[in-house]
Amino acid sequence: MTGDYLEQTRAGYDATAAEYAERFHHWLDRKPVELAVLQAFAGLVGTGGHVADVGCGTGATTAILAGHGCRVTGIDLSPNMIGEARRLNLDLDFRIGSMTALDFADESVDGVCAWYSVIHIPDEDLDAVVAEFARVLRPGGHVLLAFQVGERPLVLDEAFGRKVSLVYHRRPLRQLGRIAERHGFTSYVETVRGPDDDGLESTPHAFLIVRKPTAC
Ligand SMILES: C[S@@+](CC[C@H](N)C(=O)[O-])C[C@H]1O[C@@H](n2cnc3c(N)ncnc32)[C@H](O)[C@@H]1O
Repeated sequence: MTGDYLEQTRAGYDATAAEYAERFHHWLDRKPVELAVLQAFAGLVGTGGHVADVGCGTGATTAILAGHGCRVTGIDLSPNMIGEARRLNLDLDFRIGSMTALDFADESVDGVCAWYSVIHIPDEDLDAVVAEFARVLRPGGHVLLAFQVGERPLVLDEAFGRKVSLVYHRRPLRQLGRIAERHGFTSYVETVRGPDDDGLESTPHAFLIVRKPTAC
């Protein structure tokens, strides 16, 4: 895997973590479809099940999944995003790390939540990241992927008035589905909602839950 994009992503979120937290930490409070998807995923994981929330950002999904009874570890590339997550969620567990090399033993977690975070993984590394999810997940466990649907990436060189170099890879839902299937997962839930009429969204959003078979 090439490391340059990881450095650029880390730097982009480090530079904007405080503003991101202020704008987006409570974003999901107004998103009933997203809340329903997260509740369904938590139900599949089961009470007390361990979830790796990869690319947890400020810990909004970490808190929601914990509120539904999961034991959640939030992991993020950006130390400043993890700083915000710890500040905003005093009782939850957060670590700095990358989904490209997760610090979990093989088959040790019950669920992986990647909520708008594989959007920062380029196509050439996506297979390796999904393989990493398959490695850490126990048989019978689930992965939840949320991402914007599209054909072309969005490239930002400025966010919240700061210079960044962030690439958001929008993808058709089936592209992620096919990659997951190549790594032994079976598709369980495939949902796409249209863009919300809030002046901020321009693409549909996809929610994909895949399952690792119990014997694979
Ligand atoms: C669009 S934000 C989403 C954050 C959070 N999931 C949410 O919905 O508020 C993307 C997050 O993924 C993190 N990220 C990007 N690449 C990552 C990687 N390779 N490993 C871990 N986290 C990563 C970023 O630092 C950022 O916090």
